[in-house]
Amino acid sequence: MHDEVFEHFLDEGLIERVIRPIKSGKEASVHLVRANPRTTGEELAALKIYHPLDRRDFRDESLYRDGEFIKERRIRVALEKKTRFGREVQGGIWVGREWETLHALFAAGTPVPRPIEATDHAILMSYIGDEDDAAPQLHRYRATDDQEVEDLLEQSIRVVERMLFHDVVHGDLSPFNILVWEGRISVIDLPQAVDPKKNRHAEALLARDVERVCEHFARRGVASDPRRIADDLWTAWTFADLVPEELRATLEVGPSGG
Ligand SMILES: Nc1ncnc2c1ncn2[C@@H]1O[C@H](COP(=O)(O)OP(=O)(O)OP(=O)(O)O)[C@@H](O)[C@H]1O
Ligand SMILES: [Mg+2]
Repeated sequence: MHDEVFEHFLDEGLIERVIRPIKSGKEASVHLVRANPRTTGEELAALKIYHPLDRRDFRDESLYRDGEFIKERRIRVALEKKTRFGREVQGGIWVGREWETLHALFAAGTPVPRPIEATDHAILMSYIGDEDDAAPQLHRYRATDDQEVEDLLEQSIRVVERMLFHDVVHGDLSPFNILVWEGRISVIDLPQAVDPKKNRHAEALLARDVERVCEHFARRGVASDPRRIADDLWTAWTFADLVPEELRATLEVGPSGG
């Protein structure tokens, strides 16, 4: 699988060579690659290759795909019955969702990797880090002082807010899916993202995302009130459509509230 994917991106003239694996996770492995700057605009890139279907740990579909309707009956049935074809489609939907979400969020100026190209099994995206080191996950990042920890919390909540106002709830946000590089955070790993306008579990997923982030910062000595933050964000988002654009900034909610 990996070789086929590498070959594809090499043949397409998007990458020049694979430098090294960055990490293998539950659902995918990510490789640092030398990109072709003429076709990608990047020197280095990250190639995320989803594991073959039988090795992938499928998340709770009913939770994440709530409110989405698949028009084509053949596909709907295959998905419901979890046939081989259904799982194939499922895998494609998963990758497609990450790809689309990266596009939408990147276009909206949210700190996520820039998506470059995708296949049914892989996504080539901008790389966060340098030749020697990939950006560490927030989980293992050591801030220099409390001030920096507070700043990272503030950035994290702002990104959750920004995503929400672009109708995206991450759904699996944690200190493992936030990277820190040169003082700025980036959010990654978005295949399970949900649209709060459609998904009835979005509010609960948002609350869980905020809670996991706040728990991390609490362990690093900066306490906050995740319930209140999540509630305020949700309320602000719910009413945002009613508020004129010019006034939206006044609705912003910070880690300390208000
Ligand atoms: N664009 C990127 N730039 C630098 N590193 C990245 C990038 N994308 C992913 N990584 C690294 O690869 C790891 C795995 O990526 P990702 O979380 O998207 O995959 P995953 O298989 O869902 O992982 P997990 O199961 O651990 O959540 C990340 O934690 C991060 O360390
Ligand atoms: Mg991850």
